[in-house]
Amino acid sequence: MGSQDIVYVNGAFLPRAEARVSVEDRGFVFGDGVYEVLRAINGRLFASRFHNDRLRRSLEGIRIALPKGETPERFTEIGKQLLKENDLLKGEATLYVQVTRGVATRLHNFPPPDVPPSIYISAAAFTPYRELALSGAPVISQPDLRWGRCDLKTINLLPNVLASQAAKEKGAFEAMLIRDGVITEGSKTNFFGVVHGALRTHPCDNHILPGITRSVLRDLAREVNVEFEETPIRVDEIPQLTELFLTGTTTDVMPVVTLDDKPVGKGKPGELTKKLQRVLAESLASGGD
Ligand code: PDD
Repeated sequence: MGSQDIVYVNGAFLPRAEARVSVEDRGFVFGDGVYEVLRAINGRLFASRFHNDRLRRSLEGIRIALPKGETPERFTEIGKQLLKENDLLKGEATLYVQVTRGVATRLHNFPPPDVPPSIYISAAAFTPYRELALSGAPVISQPDLRWGRCDLKTINLLPNVLASQAAKEKGAFEAMLIRDGVITEGSKTNFFGVVHGALRTHPCDNHILPGITRSVLRDLAREVNVEFEETPIRVDEIPQLTELFLTGTTTDVMPVVTLDDKPVGKGKPGELTKKLQRVLAESLASGGD
């Protein structure tokens, strides 16, 4: 066991190898749970209030009630403790927070209300994609096969897993998902594109996850006089894209230079993309709580 191996499970701080959940955990059996991934830079969590609010919303959305005293804020405090225990107070790290509907005999309907949710929190060292962020990334398109509540950050990620694997097998960085003729988002990122000079992204509805990076970027963009329109990019507009990029907690602003092996715009990171990349990088370097 190295020094970077302590996790939190249901009230206990344990070496990862000793951490256990029951085979009857509803997360294991049904994928019945929600999660968050947060970025930590030098021990400070980035945009934790937004992540905590989204976790609350996801929990409400799938009707998991936290026991008295348990809150997303407490989870991020535990996360900070884990950063310390795992020697991650310097440099880059991520926190993973997962809440499932707890342990119960397998029945589809909810267990009795006295069954406590299972809570798992872990921290890991993280290396940003610095070189790819400069050169730009290849992506592929994939059909969006997900359910009707993509706005909830549930641990049910099978369509995302399959799309991500399809991308990997084609040497691409990410899969861009298409539903009803429009770009929704990526398997773990939000997508933005420039069409006829206008920066656009899918609106926050039930078909995308309201990304924290997406909303942080909206405020940062305004400060440098850039606005984005929440109008989906249609598949038939793809040939007119002059810039394309994706955002996420573990990807920052990532320029996309090829889509399905065809160059996007000039086939290199666009000017607007680079500008937004800079403002987000500055905010990450100075922000956090
Ligand atoms: N994924 N869309 C989807 C489907 C995602 O899973 C994510 C994040 C995002 C970007 O959201 P944010 O900016 O809040 O990270 C968009 C995390 C990082 C993951 O599953 O690992």
